[in-house]
Amino acid sequence: MLDAASPPTDIAVDNLLEVNNIEVIYNHVILVLKGVSLNVPKGGITALLGGNGAGKTTTLKAISGLLASERGEVTKGSIKYRGEAIEHRDPAETVKKGVVQVMEGRHCFEHLTIEENLLTGAYTRSDGKAAIAADLEMVYEYFPRLRERRKSQAGYTSGGEQQMCAVGRALMSRPETILLDEPSMGLAPQLVEQIFEIVKTINEKEGVTFLLAEQNTNVALRYAHYGYILESGRVVMDGPAADLRENQDVKEFYLGMSDEGRKSFRDVRSYRRRKRWLS
Ligand SMILES: Nc1ncnc2c1ncn2[C@@H]1O[C@H](COP(=O)(O)OP(=O)(O)OP(=O)(O)O)[C@@H](O)[C@H]1O
Ligand SMILES: [Mg+2]
Repeated sequence: MLDAASPPTDIAVDNLLEVNNIEVIYNHVILVLKGVSLNVPKGGITALLGGNGAGKTTTLKAISGLLASERGEVTKGSIKYRGEAIEHRDPAETVKKGVVQVMEGRHCFEHLTIEENLLTGAYTRSDGKAAIAADLEMVYEYFPRLRERRKSQAGYTSGGEQQMCAVGRALMSRPETILLDEPSMGLAPQLVEQIFEIVKTINEKEGVTFLLAEQNTNVALRYAHYGYILESGRVVMDGPAADLRENQDVKEFYLGMSDEGRKSFRDVRSYRRRKRWLS
């Protein structure tokens, strides 16, 4: 029943994750993120875009709690998951809350088989063997290639298979949110498309929320609902993916539709003017 006193829920944005003005410093001195804010709505695919060294991986690690192992630290701002502060949490606790990161460069256990790798993703679960077996079956349905290769040692499988294995392993933890770092890295265009199609299906069918970091702006903006563009540790632009795809500066600098090659947004005065149209 509708309660007249409460606001209509269909217009309220339900943010699972809220990153508010965070600063990250490595080794006590290297300032890498200089006030990054972003929201990840429940059930969406949000893209974090930007070139080499922009700070995408650092942002994901700040969320998952993996910065500490790199001598990095969130020194300002806050990160909230379901309204609870997580910026100083242990990564295992964050996984238990339902947030799992798929690392850049895939990171499978090379000496384990594909199936053993997938099962390592279920280590935090306590819902029994039958539930885990059912999810293994679900992963094989999303990635038929992994079923074929399930007995193969991961180190001998292709880059694409290892990326599928890394995403499959994340799914085995029954996550609410997957932080996916550079899924396209080192893969042929056709395979990139295939991986993004599966991400889209998992998002739609399983309701998994995604925050994905990508240098490949073109593919990311075709699959994401909303995008943030990072440059040198700052968000320089954000908007619905469809708007960013049509934005002249994005076309020019990130989608390769210019004769002059890639420039920085900050070099261009018109960018500031256009930005107002997006916000
Ligand atoms: N452990 C670390 N110690 C010191 N500096 C680091 C560390 N990790 C990353 N950096 C620096 O932080 C900056 C941001 O790096 P980050 O890996 O977050 O970028 P990125 O956007 O993921 O880039 P790429 O697309 O190349 O993966 C870079 O200048 C990098 O050199
Ligand atoms: Mg990175």
